Amino acid sequence: MCGIVGYAGSGSAKKMILSGLKSLEYRGYDSAGIALVRRGKLLVRKESGKLEALEAKVGSESFDASIGIGHTRWATHGAPTRENAHPHLSQDGRIAVVHNGIIENYMELKQDLIENHGVLFLSETDSEVIAQLIGLYYEGDLVAAIRRAVKELRGAYAIAAVCTEEPERIVAFRRDAPMIAALCEEGGLIASDIPALLKYTRDIYLIENGEIVVVTRDAVQIFDEEMTRMHRTRTHIAWDIAAAEKRGYEHFMMKEICEQPGVIRETLLQRLDDKGELALDDLAFTKAEIGAIEHVYIVACGTANHAGRVGKQLLERYAGIPVEVELSSEFRYRNPIVNGRTLVLCISQSGETSDTLEALREAKKRGARVLSIVNVEGSSVARESDFVFYTSAGPEIAVASTKAYTTQLVSLYLIALHFGRIRGTVTRAESGRLIQELKRAPEMIEAVIGKEAEIKAFAKKHYKKEKIYYVGRGSDVASAEEASLKLKEISYINSFAIAAGELKHGTIALITRDVLFFALATQSYLYDKMLSNIEEMKARQAQIIAVAKEGDMRIAEAADEVFFIPDCADEIAPIVEIVFFQLFAYHVAKLRGRDIDQPRNLAKSVTVE
Ligand code: F6R
Repeated sequence: MCGIVGYAGSGSAKKMILSGLKSLEYRGYDSAGIALVRRGKLLVRKESGKLEALEAKVGSESFDASIGIGHTRWATHGAPTRENAHPHLSQDGRIAVVHNGIIENYMELKQDLIENHGVLFLSETDSEVIAQLIGLYYEGDLVAAIRRAVKELRGAYAIAAVCTEEPERIVAFRRDAPMIAALCEEGGLIASDIPALLKYTRDIYLIENGEIVVVTRDAVQIFDEEMTRMHRTRTHIAWDIAAAEKRGYEHFMMKEICEQPGVIRETLLQRLDDKGELALDDLAFTKAEIGAIEHVYIVACGTANHAGRVGKQLLERYAGIPVEVELSSEFRYRNPIVNGRTLVLCISQSGETSDTLEALREAKKRGARVLSIVNVEGSSVARESDFVFYTSAGPEIAVASTKAYTTQLVSLYLIALHFGRIRGTVTRAESGRLIQELKRAPEMIEAVIGKEAEIKAFAKKHYKKEKIYYVGRGSDVASAEEASLKLKEISYINSFAIAAGELKHGTIALITRDVLFFALATQSYLYDKMLSNIEEMKARQAQIIAVAKEGDMRIAEAADEVFFIPDCADEIAPIVEIVFFQLFAYHVAKLRGRDIDQPRNLAKSVTVE
């Protein structure tokens, strides 16, 4: 969602803040702004659109200082105009505030500020309420004013503020939205996300919920809500700035697609011992705990939820545990039947998705144990879970998830096999066979990437289509849903996915000769059923591209075109075939001239409900 960067030091705040915000562009945004404190005055500049517009504006001016805050806004309340861009100011113009999140009770607060305090609002945002409240309570101490203001705010948010009367410090506060801080040679920094700080340091302070942070040029001080000083050790970030840069690729999405063989090898390598057997030492369950699990809920949003659907098949097959997959936004409000024998498995790349975090809290409140598959170390989901399994995907910058998805799949295979071995529901031989297959996944993905020219040709032929649908059976349904989401989000083509057996229960009415169907046919035990579905669609004049395993001769006769993935075990196919669909979506979006890394209306981590 919104990006926040603050800097207090001896260098150019303009430069530090703009370069930090640049590293957060991947979050998605539609306006940007910056506020600096210089000689008792606030210098504020904002622009709608991309950061370049703001840079162009401040670039030619002598606009600079050594302390300030900046923001990239992803609009929730109010259009993406300059007026609604952050920072927002208090009425007396002494305090500037940037905000990430949503203030749920802003309407009532705004009304009170207007009616009882004569405050004049300049924007339509919920965020301006925060600046006005802090301004109202300011009596010479920014920390005290913020503490008083946040007591009145409801919602999930992180804020950072500067004040003309206190030109040495930035004060920040977080509640259920990410915030980190660091001290480097150039001074003190705060930010909403790790990539903003990586150019300067890899040692960061993770700020906890309800904490106040005071950042100056030579200190980062953290306090709890009662102003008790907290002593926090720094967390070392394993990846460096190179991992968060494009390194010659035209888009982050393409770079991340191509990184998949490497990051899958890494995720596997960390969990297999010298003999190639499972060694999930980081999964701190006791055998008794694993044996006692009676029911699993997999809870996640979007792409992570699709990974969960594949995970369900694996956990049921190998660990013999009944599994339900739920959307976090539904689970958290559904009054689910959960108890001490329930395992809630949350999947989240960012570890900051608000719905998943709230679902996790709800599950814990009801007595469930929570295991999470997370990519970002130290993220909120990771910190609040009983057990964490990290994917080693490295930073994922493109809004459309690719390498996080495939490493989530690999993690689910490993967890399912580990549980199965301990519960006695999978033999050593069966587990060994699957691990051997998993180890081949990186080279099979390399083979798919090697066929990029063929995939590009498919894209060229079909990119003008307005309806592209996906069908499959078994775990191919989850792959179909993920493939369709990839296409939708970056190309804006009307697309959906459906279980092939469901077609004739209604959706078949949509088939006309201008519809393109992808038919996923990688599951051997369902192959004949899929062939019949292809026939059904063909009889209604749909165009069909099948995705099947190398060596499949029958499919070529049934479908109009075929893309062959390497011959692999059915269980591994979801990891391999999705790479074809990622590349297809990428090339279609490129031919349509879309903003591939930052598609419209989307943000990388959804920290608001
Ligand atoms: C789509 C995509 C989203 C995320 C979803 C959950 O490409 O990336 O659907 O998967 O917003 O995000 P995380 O995994 O960070 O919880």
